Formats: sequence, C-alpha cells, structure tokens
Amino acid sequence: MFDNKNVLITGGTGSFGQAFARKLLLEDVCNKVIIFSRDEWKQWQMQQSDPLFNHPKIRYFLGDVRDPKRLQRAFNEVHLVVHAAALKQVPAAEYNPTEFVNTNVIGGMNVIDAAIDCGVEKVIALSTDKAVNPVNLYGATKLCSDKLFVAGNAYVGMRGYPKFSVVRYGNVSGSRGSIVPLWRKMLAEGAAKLPITDKRMTRFWITLEQSVDLVCTCFRYMRGGEIFVPKIPSVKIEDLAQAVAPGVPRIYLGIREGEKLHELMVSVEDARHTIEMDDYYVILPEIYSHDPQRLAKFLEGRPERRLPEGFAYASDTNVKWMNVKQLEELFAMDS
Ligand SMILES: NC(=O)c1ccc[n+]([C@@H]2O[C@H](COP(=O)([O-])OP(=O)(O)OC[C@H]3O[C@@H](n4cnc5c(N)ncnc54)[C@H](OP(=O)(O)O)[C@@H]3O)[C@@H](O)[C@H]2O)c1
Repeated sequence: MFDNKNVLITGGTGSFGQAFARKLLLEDVCNKVIIFSRDEWKQWQMQQSDPLFNHPKIRYFLGDVRDPKRLQRAFNEVHLVVHAAALKQVPAAEYNPTEFVNTNVIGGMNVIDAAIDCGVEKVIALSTDKAVNPVNLYGATKLCSDKLFVAGNAYVGMRGYPKFSVVRYGNVSGSRGSIVPLWRKMLAEGAAKLPITDKRMTRFWITLEQSVDLVCTCFRYMRGGEIFVPKIPSVKIEDLAQAVAPGVPRIYLGIREGEKLHELMVSVEDARHTIEMDDYYVILPEIYSHDPQRLAKFLEGRPERRLPEGFAYASDTNVKWMNVKQLEELFAMDS
C-alpha cells in the first residue's frame, strides 16, 4: 500500500500522527513521511523524543490547515494523506466555536481542495463518535467535516482521484487530553477523589495502535465515500476508574453540557446503508445505492452483509466490553 509513496499526515505531531509516522518509518517502505502541523516546538519535541523521528525519510512541514496556499505547497508530489489535524476538546469548542469551525470545517475544505488540485491519490480523514447525532460543537464540526470528505469524491472529475474516505472511532486510550492521563496527573498531584461526571456513562475504547492499523486497512479497501467504523469494545466509566485507581473514592459531578451518557458510532438511520465486515462496519455513501458495480468492486468478492432494521452501534448496547482486568492489562502495557 505504502511502497514508494509520499505520505503526509496533517496533525502529524499529535497522538495519532506520531503513532502512524512511527509505523510507516519502522516498516520503511514509503518514500517520504511528511509531518504537517503549526507548532515548531511540538515538531522539535517530536524529533527529540525518538531517534526514529530523525529518520532520513521524515520531513517536518510547518503549516496551518486554515491556509490553502500552504496546503497546496505541502501536497506537492504527495500520494497519500491522513487528515488528523483538528481541535478536539469539547469544552473549548463550546467557548470558541469559530476557532473549531475554522480548523475542523474550513480546514477540511482546504485539505480537499489541495488534494484535488495537487493530484493526491487517497485521503483519509479521521472522525469521531461525537460526530454522530452531535450534541456539542466539536461533534458538529466533525460531522460537517465527514460530509465534506464524502462529498469531495464528486469533485474529482474524470481522473477518478483523489479518493476521499473517513475513519470514525471512539476514545483513544492514553491520547493527549483524554481522561486516563488526566486522572493520573490529578492523583500524582495529591487528589484524594477521582472526578466522574456520571456513573452510568459508557464509551467506545480503542488503542492508538488499533487506530493506526485500521487506517492502514482502510487505505487498502477504500474506493471513495465510505465511512469506516471499527468493531471495538466499550468500557464503563466505573470500570475505567477502578482500573486506574483501585480503591480511590470517587466524586460525581453530574453530566457536563455537551456530553452524552453513551456514544453512538452508527445511527439507526445510517445503519440502513451500512454493511458489516468481520472487523468493521462501512457506512456507504449514497452513490453506492445507484451503482451496484461500485459496491461489487468495493466488496472484492467478500459477502455483502446488511444490518437488521433498527440496528444501531452504540457504546451501551455494544456486544464487546473491556472489564477491569483487561483494562489493567492494557494500562500495564502502555506504561
Ligand atoms: N484522541 C481521541 O480520543 C480521538 C477519538 C476519535 C477521533 N479522534 C480524531 O483523531 C484525530 C487526531 O487526534 P489526536 O488525538 O491525534 O489529536 P491531538 O493529539 O490533539 O493532535 C492534533 C494535531 O493537530 C495539529 N493541528 C491542530 N490544529 C491545526 C491546524 N490548524 N493546522 C495544522 N495542524 C493542526 C496539532 O499540532 P499543532 O497544534 O502544532 O498545529 C497536532 O499535531 C482528530 O481528527 C480527532 O478528532 C481522536
């Protein structure tokens, strides 16, 4: 998939970007890995953090996805793009909505335009469960972004590329700004109680490595317009707290504005045009229903498995769960 390709990662200094770059550099098959992000300090820190990030194949490109000209320059001779740059903190989005629109929506539009103009072959945009029936501005901007990337396929003309697809998943274990590192920091600073908003809460849970592997798989199978949703386990917030800090008392703060009790990755409405594969679901774009050959090409001989009426893929009704012991094992591997 990546043989001799120039691969650019917007948001390359972020949790996903670094893990994806690491995988590409370790496999050492692509021609170039380009890290695209705004902050020179984070790029410098990344270079210092691991000799692998000084590999002769890696390039550090400063730029902002809000700046179309800079993207055009960066995408020159690039074959594959992972669009991971985003603003993602839910409370920050509520207070700074225009900033989130500019980065997550306008930035996405700029990535699509630059990819078309520069003849990129494939683009995968990262999305989140918060984009499904969104209740906060972060989720709403990611829903807009998803729609833009799916629609982007209509603008590529007779050339037939770039292909744009979306990969959507839930909470990434240990990623920057997520709950587990936050709890650990609070405990290290002497907190006597662990704050939880609501004890009934459930979340989808994925590791960084799984998210990276998923994106690699999707690069292989994407035909343009699909939203890929991995089958991943759910966790109960209480189990998560138990695995991080057994025996530490909890304080319940009440559900925050813009927060859901349970997350959704495939809604009942989306499920009508979703197919099931062994390890993931694929929400198909409208165009597939008019073009059976396209679906056949996508399936490559794999069986077409439709979902039953009323199906939804939600964190509370998930059939896969991680218990306290499995979470403890996961955290032991991370540290
Ligand atoms: N982490 C999760 O739990 C999770 C779950 C589901 C989906 N996702 C999605 O996965 C993607 C990656 O998440 P992550 O956890 O890796 O995020 P992250 O660690 O916060 O990294 C975000 C990256 O985006 C860059 N960035 C932000 N604004 C930018 C801009 N205007 N132009 C260029 N670069 C910009 C940041 O670097 P600079 O600040 O230096 O520019 C950083 O490299 C996001 O799209 C997110 O919505 C994440």
